[in-house]
Amino acid sequence: MSELTAIFADFYGAKSLVAPLNESIQYSIKAGGKRIRPILLLETLQGFGIDILEEHLKVAATVELIHTSSLIHDDLPAMDNDDFRRGKPTNHKIFGEAQAILAGDALLLDPYLLLANVALAPSIVVSLVKELALASGSYGMVAGQVLDMAGENQALTFAQLKQIHALKTGKMLTFPFVAAGIIAEQSDEVISQLRHLGETVGQAFQIRDDILDVTATFAEIGKTPGKDEVADKSTYVKLLGLAGAKAELAENLDSAENILQKISEKATFTSENVLKQIERLRID
Ligand code: IPE
Ligand code: IPE
Ligand code: MG
Ligand code: MG
Ligand code: MG
Repeated sequence: MSELTAIFADFYGAKSLVAPLNESIQYSIKAGGKRIRPILLLETLQGFGIDILEEHLKVAATVELIHTSSLIHDDLPAMDNDDFRRGKPTNHKIFGEAQAILAGDALLLDPYLLLANVALAPSIVVSLVKELALASGSYGMVAGQVLDMAGENQALTFAQLKQIHALKTGKMLTFPFVAAGIIAEQSDEVISQLRHLGETVGQAFQIRDDILDVTATFAEIGKTPGKDEVADKSTYVKLLGLAGAKAELAENLDSAENILQKISEKATFTSENVLKQIERLRID
């Protein structure tokens, strides 16, 4: 996603920025990652027939920045205590814990500056601000991270586990679809279908992450495998076993594809490229 890299370089390129903060932010952003959230936003927008402009790339950048913040904090010793992320040592391993906490703080807040300066209709920008805050804070990812930590060494019910996934991962994966619907000025009905699609893809995404923690190598995921079992995390694999988790993944992806199909029947929407992204989440 070189277009996204250019947005980041522009935003964090100012000479006046505080050097150690900027260095630690750039380290985590440049480490890469799959960029699935911005990709889904841009593919969905294009599905609605919209040509991608710089303004859209800036919106796509906001969700990736908040996601990166969540990873830096997730890896801290007080949380999952991970040494590797995106194939490189974690932010706190290089810059120290205090700097990593502060880089994560900045990456949670900077996106709102980026959004406020986006040249889209003010009503669209306000809706995007609302959705981004809902996805990331007390109504979304941060709340899910709290429940995830509280769920260590606990026997959670399936419903409780689903709720953790919905908040810690689902909300941030819902933003791309809903944001695309808002920018493309879709009806409330289509936006609510897009929200349902995002929630379903989000559930699948965390199930997949939990499966890969058990089955993948460091080279494949760029982070230390086997960490969930060591921390006694509540995961689909712990609750349902590997085969059960794989079946849940497949079921969520099938249902996401059904919702996508319904959206293309309701709106003028070409689903092909979004479908390809969802298909890429399948395992076996
Ligand atoms: C990892 O997200 C954390 C989860 C929400 C499962 P990604 O798998 O999207 O991480 P990157 O961005 O590709 O590194
Ligand atoms: C993290 O879930 C979800 C976030 C909000 C970052 P995990 O803790 O399973 O993510 P990884 O496996 O460390 O990437
Ligand atoms: Mg975690
Ligand atoms: Mg983690
Ligand atoms: Mg994980």
